[in-house]
Amino acid sequence: MTELTIPVAEIPDGGARLLAGSDSADPGTIVTRSGSRVAAFRNDCPHAHLPLDLIPGRVMARDGRHLLCANHGALFRTSDGLCVRGPCRGRRLPRVAVTVADGLARITPGPRSPRGARRSS
Ligand code: FES
Repeated sequence: MTELTIPVAEIPDGGARLLAGSDSADPGTIVTRSGSRVAAFRNDCPHAHLPLDLIPGRVMARDGRHLLCANHGALFRTSDGLCVRGPCRGRRLPRVAVTVADGLARITPGPRSPRGARRSS
């Protein structure tokens, strides 16, 4: 899969940004940041393998501290993708490899989930 590169400064500190997938079958990659620490996850909820963002691009919960899967309300830690509330509690968002150097985050998406496709609507 194609490597993605994004300036760390373009990821909200304490928040997340959803990077679009390469095509309609790719639900995209969620990138989170806490200071200089960056993590990335596939936009693929472990509950029903749907993208988290019912509203396109919106993946943060109202508490401003967790990722939200708007399908059934699961909350995930931004640091490691662990589900802390909801139907997939104890499971994690699939990790995506990310490295940071010279102010840039380089993200290498992994294989796609067979059911991780974005809705067509
Ligand atoms: S699909 Fe994410 S909570 Fe159900």
